[in-house]
Amino acid sequence: MEALQTVDLTKHYRSGLFKRKNIIALEKVSLSIEQGEIFGLLGPNGAGKTTFVKLLLSITHPTSGTATVLGHPLGQRALKEQCGYLPESHRYPGFLTAVDTMIFFGRLNGLEEKKLKDKAHFLLEMVGLKGWSKVKTKKFSKGMLQRLGLAQALVNNPKLLFLDEPTDGVDPIGRKEIRDLLIRLKGEGTTIFLNSHLLSEIEMICDRVAILNKGKVVRTGTISELTTQKLTYIIQLSAPVSDDLRVRLNQSNFSLDFKDTSLFVTLRDKSELNSIIDTLRASGIGIESMTQQKTSLENYFIQLMKGENER
Ligand SMILES: Nc1ncnc2c1ncn2[C@@H]1O[C@H](COP(=O)(O)OP(=O)(O)OP(=O)(O)O)[C@@H](O)[C@H]1O
Ligand SMILES: [Mg+2]
Repeated sequence: MEALQTVDLTKHYRSGLFKRKNIIALEKVSLSIEQGEIFGLLGPNGAGKTTFVKLLLSITHPTSGTATVLGHPLGQRALKEQCGYLPESHRYPGFLTAVDTMIFFGRLNGLEEKKLKDKAHFLLEMVGLKGWSKVKTKKFSKGMLQRLGLAQALVNNPKLLFLDEPTDGVDPIGRKEIRDLLIRLKGEGTTIFLNSHLLSEIEMICDRVAILNKGKVVRTGTISELTTQKLTYIIQLSAPVSDDLRVRLNQSNFSLDFKDTSLFVTLRDKSELNSIIDTLRASGIGIESMTQQKTSLENYFIQLMKGENER
């Protein structure tokens, strides 16, 4: 079963004087997320990422379209009971200690009173706040508040965890700890949906991603599907290419680049690969390995956005 599925989910906000201005936050978003995966939603500021999560948790309501979360239609209590949520830019009462904040959220989730304290301490330790449980949260740094937010989102042992910019403000070591924690939760069967700008982080932990731009999904796929440059190859040769052979290869239409015994080639069509290999082998040069070149998710994202915005 899918952990969540949306069909043509659309949200228009009304704002401005007399609410006359129509803001299209999401337009016909259809996404499907499998149970047990870590799914990343990426997109520039204002793309609609937070709105998407708010719709699924009924913090705001769709203009049109439908969705199910863990098999339940939007708004059902059974849905909310099984979800954890770390909101973007959250605020907790500064006069509460970390453990009291956790107890507060545990009570909101209807947890058994006698188990609350142990659970709070367990989760605070899990997010690296062990020595801070009795400190008032007004003394917490941004990264520490973010860790507390994550602990709070886990208080009801959610099956599906929504994290809106979970590593915002967290230092590199803390980010690694959060990544490890998310991978551990995934290992325990939790489905994780995260919004993030930190593409290198997304690249490290997400199974699949969707890219939103101006409220519309412009790409979905696994990280490898998006970052593999299908027509760019790196061919390792058994010997360097002679000047004469270079000239002959360069007369063709593909783009070639040489470095010692490595050949970088960008084709227009996959069939051209055979002709390059034939020419090399006819000149006595063996092929030791051949790999498709990969780009970073960040590069892919920047190129995609450039193309989208030039439309
Ligand atoms: N309550 C609201 N009333 C009116 N417009 C809103 C409201 N909330 C969001 N919007 C608009 O909807 C669009 C999507 O906003 P949203 O917060 O979902 O984007 P986002 O992708 O989460 O951005 P960011 O990366 O900055 O967090 C934006 O144009 C935003 O201005
Ligand atoms: Mg947002």
